[in-house]
Amino acid sequence: MTQKSKIEDSGFGAAAALIRDGGLVGMPTETVYGLAADATDDAAVARIFAAKGRPQFNPLIVHVADAGMAARYVEFPPVADRLAAAFWPGPLTLVLPRRADCAISLLASAGLDTLGVRAPNHEIAQSLIAAVGRPLAAPSANPSGTISPTNAEHVQEGLGDKVDVILDGGPCPVGVESTIVKIEGDAVFFLRPGGIAREAIEHIIGRPLSSAPHTDIPQAPGMLASHYAPRTPLRLDAAAPEPGEAFLGFGNTTVEGPNALNLSPSGDVIEAAANLFAYLRTLDALCTKHRLSYIAAAPIPLEGLGEAINDRLARAAAPKG
Ligand code: TXA
Ligand code: MG
Repeated sequence: MTQKSKIEDSGFGAAAALIRDGGLVGMPTETVYGLAADATDDAAVARIFAAKGRPQFNPLIVHVADAGMAARYVEFPPVADRLAAAFWPGPLTLVLPRRADCAISLLASAGLDTLGVRAPNHEIAQSLIAAVGRPLAAPSANPSGTISPTNAEHVQEGLGDKVDVILDGGPCPVGVESTIVKIEGDAVFFLRPGGIAREAIEHIIGRPLSSAPHTDIPQAPGMLASHYAPRTPLRLDAAAPEPGEAFLGFGNTTVEGPNALNLSPSGDVIEAAANLFAYLRTLDALCTKHRLSYIAAAPIPLEGLGEAINDRLARAAAPKG
């Protein structure tokens, strides 16, 4: 049985109307596709959790046009202003205290007194926020625990029967999710590596990021050991594949063949991040088809976006609990 495609490329006017009516829209951003709904509508936000099969204790990121829109809902201390000025629109999520008059659904905060906000650097996402006129709650548009979608077809495969429409923005240019920091007064805690390198944030705040106290990290899927998981197990830091393994290469390698892909032959971590999730999906499908037992993944340097790539590979490799 083939599912009717929900992919739509005829603009966002109809999508904005669907969102205002409480619907769910597959929305491209520069990082990954999001499953977007009106963040002020409790029932719509509840539909996001149901569609993804996402635990209710896992808070959602709320997408805003800019810092001005964010400051209507969360406290915006000077360090948040500096970070937003440096990186918005872009792949940085700021976790900030909810304002007392915050109109965003409490479900989006999953019971916390904070809210994750970011301004996406993508024309379609920005146009959708403008057309709806409200912030959009949007987790990655994949069933909970699976690989995040970096093109419209991935969203169709994973959630095609659950979304009302998918806006096709082509492949996501960054390819890994946003970096998440939590701000408490002057302190900036690093919660998740992502599309903005740790070093770039530290350059703006003028000091090293603090590690998050364990109690500050929600036991959310994106933070759990096993996440972003393909069906096929991963073997990390592999110089070359063993017989019966597919290979996810990086940089200069002599490994070639039908079951090998190279994230970046020139060894560029930005290019590797953009290819990561799509290549994992392709190799996972090849392994299923040819009954290969592992995806062997080459080591990736930790600098820049390499930190986010290593984080996602480690979670993809972790035993499923
Ligand atoms: O790039 C991205 O961040 C993408 C695109 C769609 O914007 N979104 C994304 O959402 O990756 P999601 O739900 O897959 O991951 C969001 C993570 C959650 O795992 C949660 O732990 C964290 O953000 N988060 C959200 N609100 C938070 C809060 N108030 N406190 C701590 N962590 C929070
Ligand atoms: Mg996710």
